[in-house]
Amino acid sequence: MHILAIESSCDETCAAVISEGKIRSNVVATQEVHRKYGGVVPELASRAHQQNIIPVVAQALTDAAVDKRQLGVVAFTRGPGLLGSLLVGTSFAKAFALALGIPLIDVNHLQAHVLAHFIEEPRPQFPFLCLTVSGGHTQIVRVSDYLTMEIIGQTQDDAVGEAFDKTAKLLDLPYPGGPLIDRHAQAGNPHAFVFPDVDMPGLNFSFSGIKTAFLYFLRDHRRQDPEFVARHLDDICASIQHTLIRILLEKLRKAAHQTGIREIAIAGGVSANSGLRRMVREEGEREGWQVYIPKLEYCTDNAAMIAMAAHFKALRGEFCGQDTGPLPRG
Ligand code: KG4
Ligand code: ZN
Repeated sequence: MHILAIESSCDETCAAVISEGKIRSNVVATQEVHRKYGGVVPELASRAHQQNIIPVVAQALTDAAVDKRQLGVVAFTRGPGLLGSLLVGTSFAKAFALALGIPLIDVNHLQAHVLAHFIEEPRPQFPFLCLTVSGGHTQIVRVSDYLTMEIIGQTQDDAVGEAFDKTAKLLDLPYPGGPLIDRHAQAGNPHAFVFPDVDMPGLNFSFSGIKTAFLYFLRDHRRQDPEFVARHLDDICASIQHTLIRILLEKLRKAAHQTGIREIAIAGGVSANSGLRRMVREEGEREGWQVYIPKLEYCTDNAAMIAMAAHFKALRGEFCGQDTGPLPRG
């Protein structure tokens, strides 16, 4: 059976086709319109989704060499995400399915990030832990089956992706800043500057304190030397990135110890970070973990992961009705 999947939760319009559990196409249209505003503007995102969705779906069908009349299911991201953006994908999916007379499957965006690990080999063994790190979420998830996941730790304020993006903004880097911090960090010294540790109980995270500490750090240094950032950009990026990764790894290690699970995965946009990818591997060697890191194209938002999640839901007969609406909070 062929499934068409649509992802439109934030600022990427994506479509993919999956056939019998194998991804046949994966199209992503990144919206450039937000750059000049330094962040995603929700209203502009929905408008861009409206413009992109038909060509993106057409491209996904062409790349997969699947005619729309051959489709058996249309799947879409129901949430979490921006309401207006979700509405575009949801409405399109519902209309398309209605016109073709085929069923719908709704997908949770965060579950899909985790299930990106089943697109290609090697696949994690159940149960495994997944550190899901994106622009809106930071979670440690205990995954006991394809569709059975329990959040055992999560951020109490900002997401780590947000911390990357806000830090970049303070450094006058363009949006989205995460990948730029990563690039500068590769040329810098991660121990050049030290930021305070954040002490959160249990497996939960907090990133708002570090953001404030960083704000004051920059203010004080800029006061003494207006050229401070320009002079030390690589070292600043490397140090802040190192601090954020250290916070993530400490909780991941704690979760692994507490649960006794050694199958460890990372997922979501921030799992594209080269420092995190390297440090998780190193930690895995020390701790005796089997580590799973998605290919870069499956870290950031894409519809292949939505298609993969829909595949597992289809196998269980978990369809949804035409009365299903977006769920911005997940
Ligand atoms: O999963 P994602 O594409 O969208 C959400 O579901 O939020 O994640 C986007 C986040 C942004 O905060 C972006 O800055 C961050 O992932 N990101 C990175 C890198 N690539 C994307 N952060 C650090 N280093 C990267 N290489
Ligand atoms: Zn995402």
